[in-house]
Amino acid sequence: MKVTIQQLKQWKQQGRPITVLTAWDYALGTILDQSGVDVLLVGDSLAMVALGYDNTLPLQLDDMIHHAQAVCRGAKRALVVCDLPFLSYQSSPQQALESAGQILKRTGVQGVKLEGGYPDMAETVNFLVMRGIPVMGHVGLTPQSVHQLGGYRRQGRSAAQAAEILQAALSLEQAGAFAIVLEHIPADLAATITQKLSIPTIGIGAGLACDGQVLVTADILGLSDWQPPFAKVYLEMRSQITDAVERYCADVKQRRFPTQE
Ligand code: KIV
Repeated sequence: MKVTIQQLKQWKQQGRPITVLTAWDYALGTILDQSGVDVLLVGDSLAMVALGYDNTLPLQLDDMIHHAQAVCRGAKRALVVCDLPFLSYQSSPQQALESAGQILKRTGVQGVKLEGGYPDMAETVNFLVMRGIPVMGHVGLTPQSVHQLGGYRRQGRSAAQAAEILQAALSLEQAGAFAIVLEHIPADLAATITQKLSIPTIGIGAGLACDGQVLVTADILGLSDWQPPFAKVYLEMRSQITDAVERYCADVKQRRFPTQE
């Protein structure tokens, strides 16, 4: 049975941690889904890990739709959420509705994610939710604002910043978001937010107290050429692929492949 947004809320109430990973194509969609990941996020980090851009800003709505369609073909059980790319929702709630509507109509995902909090994005989230579109929020380090933040730095270190992030999370919940990503903020701030909200928090570099955890799949598989300090590498895929490809090339050059059979 497909995971639902209602189930995520129940899991929070039951204290059952929620597993989230990013996905960007059919192969990953099927493997992560069959491995039991609860939520697949077609995150705009795919710009960097799958398309080779320096940041997430160049992605267009059609790029996200293309990747989300592929992930959805592979995801039978997991809830699939797709990021709204930079400048596809910031202009107005109406623009956000049109972009989110395109994603839902053309891909098969169950929800969208957008970055930012109080006051602008809360209004936009409410506008979408009132029209039947499930929205996941994202506060703390918001990579689409990388230039404004001066890099991918930890957020919420000062009391004023922490209060702003808490306020953003509260306003997103009030606006109707079904879950919120808390990225790269102090663990005690994430714990406070998690305790104050009735919707699940999904942490990335935000400590153990969050209701769920998300990482960029390329980071846990050792596929990226750079990992953030909070990522955990479970496999050295880059070196394993290099080894396999070198052996294949050697077989071809030395006429060991193909064999008679
Ligand atoms: O784009 C992404 O991969 C994300 C996660 C890091 C939360 O937004």
